[in-house]
Amino acid sequence: MYENNIPTASNHNLIESEKEMKVSGNAILITGGTSGIGLAFAEKLLELGNKVIICGRRENRLNDIKKKHSGIITKVCDVNDRVERESLATWVIKNYPEVNVLINNAGIQLLVDLTHQINLDRVHNEVETNLIAPIHLTSLLAQHLIQKKESAIINISSGLAFVPISFMPVYCATKAALHSVTLSLRHQLKETNVKVFEIAPPSVDTELGHERREDKTQSHGGIHVDEFISEAMKAIENDIYESAVGMSENMRQKRESLFSSINH
Ligand SMILES: NC(=O)c1ccc[n+]([C@@H]2O[C@H](COP(=O)([O-])OP(=O)(O)OC[C@H]3O[C@@H](n4cnc5c(N)ncnc54)[C@H](OP(=O)(O)O)[C@@H]3O)[C@@H](O)[C@H]2O)c1
Repeated sequence: MYENNIPTASNHNLIESEKEMKVSGNAILITGGTSGIGLAFAEKLLELGNKVIICGRRENRLNDIKKKHSGIITKVCDVNDRVERESLATWVIKNYPEVNVLINNAGIQLLVDLTHQINLDRVHNEVETNLIAPIHLTSLLAQHLIQKKESAIINISSGLAFVPISFMPVYCATKAALHSVTLSLRHQLKETNVKVFEIAPPSVDTELGHERREDKTQSHGGIHVDEFISEAMKAIENDIYESAVGMSENMRQKRESLFSSINH
């Protein structure tokens, strides 16, 4: 589908455009839809006329969302658990075979001080949620998506994939790894109808890391989630496969540039 050049916001016009991703009439599975970016994507995509399925661990949140938006399909799932991931994929394929888009969004962000003995369970947890879960879910749904006329996998990475912030070293490493995996996945799927997007948010005002804030209602700063969604939707509908939103674009400029040549 695409050559080695990855359409980004800056070079997109230079690349011959194929049919661009439609943003209505899809059936979309979003991991981590109970708050923040996942929930805002779900609401926007529902409004645009897509079937939307969200999952998360907090059943009460899922029930509240269902009450507010009866059109959103909900499923309790802890993506940290490989068996739950397998059940989720099987359930989706059986009950919603029309699913043609996977948004790997669920994520957690932990502070880790590498100068003292770390709690390995926390580290495993963060790596499993942010990296292994999207890798595994992608592999579980890839053959299903390949059979669709048009389909997509959308990975939510971070500006911190490109430049780490040292007090969350594992988080940044998972996002750098997700960026790398996305490049490889896009290459592996290049002869198929599956478009592979990476969207790297800047700081967005969500619940991410709220457990470490004394006042849970306190904003952690960052842009409003609606502003982020509006930029992310522009990337999707214009087939900008790698989109670093806002200040993430600056960070992306510093990334490695060898991928195309070594995979030529
Ligand atoms: N906000 C930012 O500044 C920012 C910047 C760059 C990248 N991102 C990325 O954007 C994505 C969404 O984060 P957010 O900012 O929207 O944060 P958020 O408001 O905390 O949302 C995180 C979502 O992930 C879900 N989740 C976490 N662990 C899960 C698990 N084990 N199983 C299933 N669902 C799980 C949560 O649902 P439950 O708790 O109900 O399970 C929640 O719906 C993450 O990948 C994050 O790294 C965010």
